[in-house]
Amino acid sequence: MRTPAKQSTARRSGPSLARNAPVLLLTCLLAGPATLFASTVNEDAAFGDAARGEEIYQQCAGCHSLSYNRTGPKHCGIMGRRAGGVNDYVYSDAMRRSDLVWTRETLDRFLANPGAVVPGTTMGYAGIASDQNRRDLIAFLESAGESPEHCGLTED
Ligand code: HEC
Repeated sequence: MRTPAKQSTARRSGPSLARNAPVLLLTCLLAGPATLFASTVNEDAAFGDAARGEEIYQQCAGCHSLSYNRTGPKHCGIMGRRAGGVNDYVYSDAMRRSDLVWTRETLDRFLANPGAVVPGTTMGYAGIASDQNRRDLIAFLESAGESPEHCGLTED
């Protein structure tokens, strides 16, 4: 199920390369060690960076926790679970009837625009525009969903 990372075409900038060289050099210097670190904490770094995803998850933490229900349902074990599948959480009819199963692909679509993918959902969140941010977040949900530290004693 590994999806190769999308190749960015943005850097094939031709003539402007020389002009941007100092910026590119700086970017490489900064990104180098970060990338190295990411690949040690997340073996599937080509998809998304779970460590970055954990930071982005702060945007969700007002309503969600990994291990217990809050305003929104808990997220542990979400990969492969049907939407509306946490037994002790009361979902909207829209979510229960959505017929979705949470995978990288369905989560990516839902998190980009929750109200468009599940019309009538009670999740009051506009969505995440950045593809990379969504992938990082999903990588975090995947890794945390397998972590006893986060999910150990709870049932889905
Ligand atoms: C303002 C509160 C709020 C915020 C912020 C929020 N959510 Fe939700 N979320 C909800 C509610 C409420 C539901 C249940 C929706 C329903 O039943 O229609 C939900 C449902 C979900 C579901 C479906 C879960 C399931 O068990 O089927 C996912 C996935 C989800 N949220 C992910 C996120 C992520 C990731 C973020 C952060 C980017 C986020 N949410 C931010 C309130 C929120």
